[in-house]
Amino acid sequence: MSLSDPKSKVLLQLDPDEHASVFDSVVAIDSGVDHLLRHHSVKESDVEDLVHGAIFTRGLEDLKRTAIFVGGSNVEVGERILKKVISTFFGPLSVSVMLDSNGANTTAAAAVLSATRHRDLQGAKVVVLGGTGPVGRRICVLAARQGANVMLGSRSQSRSANAVDTIKLLDSNWNLTPFATGDDAWLDEIKDADILISAGAAGVELISKSQLEKFSQLRVAIDLNAVPPAGIEGVDVMATGSNVNELVVYGAIGVGGLKMKIHKAALRKLFTQNNQVLDANEIYDIGTGIVSK
Ligand SMILES: NC(=O)c1ccc[n+]([C@@H]2O[C@H](COP(=O)([O-])OP(=O)(O)OC[C@H]3O[C@@H](n4cnc5c(N)ncnc54)[C@H](OP(=O)(O)O)[C@@H]3O)[C@@H](O)[C@H]2O)c1
Repeated sequence: MSLSDPKSKVLLQLDPDEHASVFDSVVAIDSGVDHLLRHHSVKESDVEDLVHGAIFTRGLEDLKRTAIFVGGSNVEVGERILKKVISTFFGPLSVSVMLDSNGANTTAAAAVLSATRHRDLQGAKVVVLGGTGPVGRRICVLAARQGANVMLGSRSQSRSANAVDTIKLLDSNWNLTPFATGDDAWLDEIKDADILISAGAAGVELISKSQLEKFSQLRVAIDLNAVPPAGIEGVDVMATGSNVNELVVYGAIGVGGLKMKIHKAALRKLFTQNNQVLDANEIYDIGTGIVSK
């Protein structure tokens, strides 16, 4: 396709950070985007003009060939920008948009889908350490909506309780329980878990090998922290479904392969219609299509 072809795929990258993410740009190009319009330091007040530029330029039939990606390192800021993008659309004048600030949606999807390869989530007890962060919260939502009994962990009982309350606003029937880590008593609450996902901050160990040995029926352990020390002591960052005794383990880079596939598939899907919003659930559903092949 010639670069001046009106059928070319144009992606508007909206990034609130000082420098638009090079990672997100490279993935966009690798996913077949013809023209990438990179905007950095984007504020909510900038969004309307930028979106107007995207929706007023091409005819209705060609609007599906323009799309928006909201990135940046701060997930809450990304969520506000996404809201503003959506509220700027009107009538048939919209383009598809995807949110993946700090990789939160694609990472959460890849983690939960990795677990589902080994254990059905319906009725499973899923423990999420670092469950108050953007990745952890999304993991809790994705697991809860599939019928898991989710335990959301934090260093603080009030922060975990707040996170559970916020998630339950989406569906009060979901089974979520907050817990706080601290002395070893917290292990009694979670040691019958089927799945453990560590989504704590980078470079922080959240659970030791000896604590892990106390679990009675753990099937899968997933650590999303790529920066040493590991979030789950002893989990190799490269592990991708490796068997350690009876346990299946994934490290952050091990989960990363699926995350990248999901990210690229979501970007490609943007260009199939002009009215899609790809947030956590939709991105997870795209991942389901990938792992079920
Ligand atoms: N592979 C990828 O592409 C990719 C993409 C995104 C994220 N990640 C990784 O996924 C993990 C989760 O990401 P995130 O952005 O959700 O993380 P985050 O917001 O930085 O941290 C998650 C939670 O960790 C807890 N925490 C923070 N500092 C801690 C400390 N010093 N000790 C113990 N707990 C601490 C906090 O919970 P409380 O304060 O409530 O305890 C926080 O809410 C990170 O390790 C991140 O690097 C990987």
